[in-house]
Amino acid sequence: MKPLIVLNLKTYLEGTGEGAVRIAEACRAVGEESGIEIAVAPQLCDVYRVASQVDVPVYSQHLDGVGAGSFTGHVFARCVKDAGAVGTLINHSERRVNLADIESSVTAAKGEGLRTIVCTNNIATTAAAAALGPDFVAVEPPELIGSGIPVSKADPEVVRGSVTAVERIDADVKVLCGAGISKGEDLKAAMELGSVGVLLASGIVKAKDPKAALEDLVSLI
Ligand code: G3P
Repeated sequence: MKPLIVLNLKTYLEGTGEGAVRIAEACRAVGEESGIEIAVAPQLCDVYRVASQVDVPVYSQHLDGVGAGSFTGHVFARCVKDAGAVGTLINHSERRVNLADIESSVTAAKGEGLRTIVCTNNIATTAAAAALGPDFVAVEPPELIGSGIPVSKADPEVVRGSVTAVERIDADVKVLCGAGISKGEDLKAAMELGSVGVLLASGIVKAKDPKAALEDLVSLI
């Protein structure tokens, strides 16, 4: 099975504004060459810019479980969808929300037909997130995020254990893993541990040549 790769641009300068479009274009090109789905998660203000300029799946970095109405400053699922996104991250370790809010965000996103990726930090929270029925749970040990040390090598058990826990709870939920992933061997190892893909950021966004870095990432699949 081909993996799903989701590139989170965070608030990196390299991935802001026109930079987001440039990196999204690299995702599109490498995705097309390799036949692997490479999605991009730009900042909220860049979702429309990227989705309208590049033929690539776009995810929001966050979404709130609110409806239409009096919710100033919130991220409304309908607006995210209208901006051109196909999915959203929820509960990234840099944008944590409580369990009740994760549930309402998942429900709001699903109501608009958006794919949902709930991020978690360990096996126990992965199990809790899976019970909410998202499309994907992405397990990322926070201490490895941005470290350049791949979770698939440093903590394979958190990936394996997450896959086992999710299978027990809801076999329709798929597991992604992330933190420190940047090379082809990291993606290959992640797949061998039972995940269906990876969520990654700095290794590509901050690379001198993001397109070349993406080509390396998919080179062993
Ligand atoms: O959302 C992806 C992420 O938190 C992992 O970051 O820089 O370790 O690939 P990084």
